Amino acid sequence: MKKITVIGTGYVGLVSGAGISDFGHHVTCADIIDSKIKMLQSGKIPIYEPGLSDLVERNVKAGRLAFTTDVDSAIQSSAVIFIAVGTPQGDNGEANISAVEAVAKSIGKNLNGYKVICTKSTVPIGTGDRVCKLVNESMPVDGEFDYVSNPEFLREGSAVKDFLWPDRVVIGATSEKAFDIMRDVYRPLYVNEKPMLHTNVATAEMIKYAANAFLALKISYINEVANLCEKVGADVHQVAKAMGQDGRISPKFLHPGPGYGGSCFPKDTHAIAALARKKGSPMNTIEAAIVTNQDQKKRMVDKMRNLIGGNFSGKTVGVLGLAFKPNTDDVRESASIEMIQAIMDEGGTVKAYDPIANESMEEFFPELSYCQSWEETCKQTDGVAIMTEWNEFRGLSLEKLKVMMNSPVILDTRNILSINKLIEFGFQFDNVGREKS
Ligand SMILES: NC(=O)c1ccc[n+]([C@@H]2O[C@H](COP(=O)([O-])OP(=O)(O)OC[C@H]3O[C@@H](n4cnc5c(N)ncnc54)[C@H](O)[C@@H]3O)[C@@H](O)[C@H]2O)c1
Repeated sequence: MKKITVIGTGYVGLVSGAGISDFGHHVTCADIIDSKIKMLQSGKIPIYEPGLSDLVERNVKAGRLAFTTDVDSAIQSSAVIFIAVGTPQGDNGEANISAVEAVAKSIGKNLNGYKVICTKSTVPIGTGDRVCKLVNESMPVDGEFDYVSNPEFLREGSAVKDFLWPDRVVIGATSEKAFDIMRDVYRPLYVNEKPMLHTNVATAEMIKYAANAFLALKISYINEVANLCEKVGADVHQVAKAMGQDGRISPKFLHPGPGYGGSCFPKDTHAIAALARKKGSPMNTIEAAIVTNQDQKKRMVDKMRNLIGGNFSGKTVGVLGLAFKPNTDDVRESASIEMIQAIMDEGGTVKAYDPIANESMEEFFPELSYCQSWEETCKQTDGVAIMTEWNEFRGLSLEKLKVMMNSPVILDTRNILSINKLIEFGFQFDNVGREKS
């Protein structure tokens, strides 16, 4: 079993570190945020991710998983070092890889013997060369390493399952030796015959961006189909269902909605588009998907404003769902941010509620009135916008809702409510690509 360090203990680093320890290795998760590491050391999980708490607890108890802020020691004592720090959107849409660069320098300084350095963060094509250069520049004479790009495909909300049972593992390795070491890291998956692709570094880096950008493109495509459905009296759900039954298309990522959000698709589409422009090989499809997504978020605001009488001023709107999707507390780039901002900017009042993500949204809107249930949120509102398809919103009682609101007005951006019921209870409503009131 190997000694492994994962640097960066966020959504990817924590899940990957815990998952790799579950494969039987000894893992240290390192981060520079002291409060985060203290929480983990005291048995608390800083993010919401189904199954993560059990996975962490089990491996900590078994003595295979530990947490530290002492990044230098963690590097020195490990054979494989994963880089899993953030790569947020930087200038001109390009990915900001400064955290990756800082970690590369730390690894170089602490390279006491041969190690495999493996980047799991999503990084622009060419970053592998940059990391190797920085390590080479800062390492002692007896330092030795191989570099690997091992992009991560987990989805927030099902990250543990995705990590432990991935569709494939991509390993862009600079040597056979490094590939063999990585295969050992992922041994249980290899034994279970999960596809393990050995590529060069640039190809592995490209696979991650190409996959994410394609999924974002698919979402923007179905959103545009939904918008056209509204104009021609077609039902987007039936259209998407029939499209998905075609094996060449697949039903995944054909759900219309308020526009994609989260910490990946928005920044990754910008990053690949920026890289493509820089290399003189523009990706017009992705550029268009980005614009469509921005427009879709604005369309939702327009829909809510229209429903409520053309003006948010003096109106109270209940926003149900703040996370960019269910089963996560991540609100980064969530469509609800655009909605809340517009209502507030135009003189309206927002009552907001998410089963898990209230606290995360407080960082964006500390002044907002946060509620603890959908009932509390919707009471005495002039309109309600469903922004995230949490299960508890699927089952909300329209009969109850109608009585508690000032007027029965609802925007269902996730198409989770029954149109028949909305009509039956006399709601004025809108959705994405379906029949209207
Ligand atoms: N979140 C996802 O669903 C997902 C999925 C696949 C890939 N990715 C990619 O994985 C990477 C990490 O994403 P995330 O969502 O986990 O980010 P995150 O913001 O949740 O976590 C990043 C962590 O890195 C730490 N960090 C920053 N600089 C550091 C340093 N110098 N030393 C040690 N720790 C440092 C931060 O404190 C933070 O805890 C990104 O490149 C992202 O694109 C994310």
